[in-house]
Amino acid sequence: AAVQIPPASNFPALKNDLILRAARRQPVPRVPVWLMRQAGRYLPEFRQTRSKYDFFTICRTPSLACEVTLQPMRRFNLDAAIIFSDILVVPQALGLEVVMVEGKGPVLPNPISEPSDLDRLRTPVDVEKELGYVMRAITLTRHRLDGQAPLIGFAGAPWTLMAYMIEGGSSTTHAKSKRWLYAHPAASNRLLDAITDVVIDFLVAQIRAGAQLVQLFESHCGSLTPELFRRYELPRLARIAAETRRRLGEAAVPMIAFAKDGHFALEMLAKDCGFDVVSVDWTMEPAECRRRLGDCPVALQGNLDPVLMACTDRDQLNQEVHRMLQGFGTRGYICNLGHGIYPDAQPDTVGAFIDAVHRLSESAAAA
Ligand code: CP3
Repeated sequence: AAVQIPPASNFPALKNDLILRAARRQPVPRVPVWLMRQAGRYLPEFRQTRSKYDFFTICRTPSLACEVTLQPMRRFNLDAAIIFSDILVVPQALGLEVVMVEGKGPVLPNPISEPSDLDRLRTPVDVEKELGYVMRAITLTRHRLDGQAPLIGFAGAPWTLMAYMIEGGSSTTHAKSKRWLYAHPAASNRLLDAITDVVIDFLVAQIRAGAQLVQLFESHCGSLTPELFRRYELPRLARIAAETRRRLGEAAVPMIAFAKDGHFALEMLAKDCGFDVVSVDWTMEPAECRRRLGDCPVALQGNLDPVLMACTDRDQLNQEVHRMLQGFGTRGYICNLGHGIYPDAQPDTVGAFIDAVHRLSESAAAA
């Protein structure tokens, strides 16, 4: 049944703003925690919804996207919700077909292969027209959350989306899309700019619709060399942060950059991009991240190994949480996994993780 979407104003008062304070490096009584992909197949209630609807149907139906966004919020004491959607809605808005194939993941049946294929892209994109369903889902969810915690909006970063658009799906090497960067620099710039323009319009629209933070997912950072990252991606990430903030003015919100396997990019992300928070994966040592960044005014997010969510040894879990809190410290820190949660995660362990972060960080913050 179609639901009425209330106006994107008069939102319920926030009862928990810990993540907003941590993103701004303000003092917090305890560390906020959420999980990348917290709405997903490890939850029986998600699998139940998913058994009835196709993946992108859920994304495109605000009442369904809202429902699955709220599912983990009902079970756990999470400090943020993240709107249910996918990074691949941007390639769809640019005119590429994307289907979610059972057991395989996303597939783009007609990927970009030659520079001349760029003429197929539908630019400029009217994000309200193509992606208005995401904005409506955000507005509805922000109302329905009733102030329980802030709502996060998101988008894929330009290089990660370019890689999907050229590979036609997931890839381990990203050899085709990387070859573009070497062989077709002008066409690569054109494609990355087209994506960047949509990402900026999309983030601004999500924030106007009610998103209280936004995260940019650079899931394929690790396949770039530092030089390719610096030349092609860094200027676009910086433009996304600056333009989004400039267009919103007073209404700007904290921005998180997550660069999977982006060891080499830590300083560039923290110092040269203008994001408020940098999210790191489990291959980075928390204290080493802090040491490398010195007094750089950036908050950090991360980085527990998601595999631990499938383990049942509570002492081990507590030790890992303790180690993470020690390394990152409790100021300017948002606790999360180092990447999205896996489908074999145990809901009980997820609950134990969230409670451990709260309990252990409360005593550390008080000390
Ligand atoms: O975090 C959340 O709970 C919000 C929802 C969300 C999804 N995808 C839902 C989803 C978010 C933030 C994403 C981001 C996303 N999507 C990324 C960046 C994060 C990352 O993992 O690096 C990427 C690379 C994608 C593209 C994508 N979507 C892949 C590779 C897959 C298949 C792999 C998988 O986990 O199944 C998806 C599918 C997808 N996106 C699912 C969900 C819940 C599972 C699909 C299903 O239900 O059939």
